[in-house]
Amino acid sequence: PEASRDAFKRAAAAAAVELVEDGMVVGLGTGSTAAFAVEALAQRHAHGLRFLGIPTSERTAAQARAVGIPLTSFVEHRQIDLTIDGADEVERGTLNLIKGLGGALLREKIVAAASRRLAIVVDGAKLVDRLGANTPVPVEVVPFGLEATSASLEVLGASARLRLTSAGDPFVTDGGNRIIDCSFVAIADPARLEERIRRIVGVVESGLFIGRAHMVFVADPDGVHRLDS
Ligand code: A5P
Repeated sequence: PEASRDAFKRAAAAAAVELVEDGMVVGLGTGSTAAFAVEALAQRHAHGLRFLGIPTSERTAAQARAVGIPLTSFVEHRQIDLTIDGADEVERGTLNLIKGLGGALLREKIVAAASRRLAIVVDGAKLVDRLGANTPVPVEVVPFGLEATSASLEVLGASARLRLTSAGDPFVTDGGNRIIDCSFVAIADPARLEERIRRIVGVVESGLFIGRAHMVFVADPDGVHRLDS
């Protein structure tokens, strides 16, 4: 099943990469699905397409360099034409997202906010009727006082857990912060929840992406479907 899931991820990524045109600045997402998009972009680059990438993580930057994609940064470009990124959950109907199980949510949100278009690539298993059903909301917090920040998140109804590495140490983001994974039984109003999380002192960003995705490419056994916002 993992192998066929990879085939779906690859198919969704390939469809999104078709949107890239000569001269674009392209936001490069993070995660296993976004990595397939970076691979497909490298092939288009090898066939002569000119574009510059802005990576959403150190991991993606390393992959992009390894496959020969030229990179740029916000120093040179304030606006990104198109970002292709993965997601952990996509709400059918609204295209609201949960992102950040890969830990890159802060840079992903900064890049998404600077993008004229955000294309999300997923396999069909990630489509849900209501966000939060299967996935906690990752919240990036500064290390100082994270126990207090975590307690404030629990006041919002979350069961909050500090993310650990497989070695049992706190997971550290590219920004040097920590992640608290917040499970909610059901998220009735994700936009309001995003606001309430953001207002907590010590929170840097949450993995709720509300009204940010312009389109979602979903691959399942029937093929690749494009959902537009
Ligand atoms: C990274 O921080 C996340 O937002 C990823 O985009 C998300 O975890 C999707 O990853 P996969 O494509 O590996 O499921």
